[in-house]
Amino acid sequence: MHQDVEQILYTEEELRRRVKEVGAQITADYYGRQPLLISVLRGSYIFMADLTRAISLDLTVDFMVVSSYGAGTVSSGQVEIKKDLSDSIEGRDLIIVEDILDSGNTLYYLMDVLKARKPASIRLCTLMDKPDRRTKPITADYVGFTIPDAFIVGYGLDYDEKYRNLPYVGVLKPSVYQRGAEPS
Ligand code: IMP
Ligand code: MG
Repeated sequence: MHQDVEQILYTEEELRRRVKEVGAQITADYYGRQPLLISVLRGSYIFMADLTRAISLDLTVDFMVVSSYGAGTVSSGQVEIKKDLSDSIEGRDLIIVEDILDSGNTLYYLMDVLKARKPASIRLCTLMDKPDRRTKPITADYVGFTIPDAFIVGYGLDYDEKYRNLPYVGVLKPSVYQRGAEPS
């Protein structure tokens, strides 16, 4: 275990098993359709890679980079598109793939932007959900794990761009972020 991690929340094996279940659910729900999975970078890159391989459909993928936080780590409510989608989404069945749903600010804004481009449907899939922290009326259609309010890292999730490569999801030691800025 990494020295900055207080506790492992989900092991590699638990993540693998749950991602397969979510993939199977999406496969069943979208039977006969060709959904477009949109990964919101960077946090969802590992989840996206595993999730898409757990779905048996003729899906396509696209990527977006948004930032919801300014220089600090406190959610500003302002979301900026740093990299937009490569293709049109008009008439497509979208599945937005997120690493974690926290305040909901990022997704609340993003859903509006995407809806304006006239997709056939939009659903939201998040690996982690922290419902206690929600300030915007956003719920995910597919949730990997519902977790209490703790700052977690690994499996794509970062603190200050670090720890994304940990193969498990763990709770970050508060002493790590108390040295720097508060995490969001
Ligand atoms: P929201 O707009 O507050 O829902 O923020 C969502 C984004 O905040 C996520 O996509 C993450 O990048 C980041 N975030 C929120 N909670 C955590 C956490 O516990 N660990 C790592 N990143 C987090
Ligand atoms: Mg992040």
